Amino acid sequence: MIEIRPLAGWPGSPPSAGDTQTLTALWERCGLTRPWNDPNADIRLASSCENAVILVGWQADAPIASVMTGHDGHRGTVYYVSVDPGHRGKGYGRLMMDAAEGWLRDKGIWKLNLMVRADNQAAVDFYRALGYAVEERIAMAKWLDPAKNPQNRQETA
Ligand SMILES: CC(C)(COP(=O)(O)OP(=O)(O)OC[C@H]1O[C@@H](n2cnc3c(N)ncnc32)[C@H](O)[C@@H]1OP(=O)(O)O)[C@@H](O)C(=O)NCCC(=O)NCCS
Repeated sequence: MIEIRPLAGWPGSPPSAGDTQTLTALWERCGLTRPWNDPNADIRLASSCENAVILVGWQADAPIASVMTGHDGHRGTVYYVSVDPGHRGKGYGRLMMDAAEGWLRDKGIWKLNLMVRADNQAAVDFYRALGYAVEERIAMAKWLDPAKNPQNRQETA
């Protein structure tokens, strides 16, 4: 079983270097990191926001599952939904999403929108099993800091 609680430090103070390191290692094992996206910066920012939280599923003080959730005052979303490869198929992913949904409901948020990469059919099937449905929308995005755009960065050229 896992114990779900926010990453130490939330809200308002940065989590410990050790927790940050073990969490980013989990995300790497789960294939959720990208070269152009610094997970440490993501942890720092989410940990400093009252309207966001990183919920971690701990087993013997080791993070084996996670979800970053938050809201913009209207809708909720999730990122970094992960379960360690050695612990999948035990219902932990569902427990993490239940926890994220509960956190959002407590804030008065009644709808959660999430995005899945087009090549991640397993995640689509997981979310469908949890009651999520595909809604026909066009997802648009703009880099507010052009320096963060991988297309503008030499190392990705
Ligand atoms: C997606 C992920 C979090 C699922 O975690 P998990 O602990 O194995 O999922 P659960 O055991 O809680 O499964 C919950 C339900 O989803 C279903 N499900 C989970 N993975 C599935 C898959 N690959 N294909 C089809 N259904 C799946 C289960 O059958 C279960 O359904 P049920 O409750 O009706 O029996 C995990 O596989 C993971 O970390 N993947 C890599 C990271 C990732 O892609 N995250 C999503 C990014 S958008």
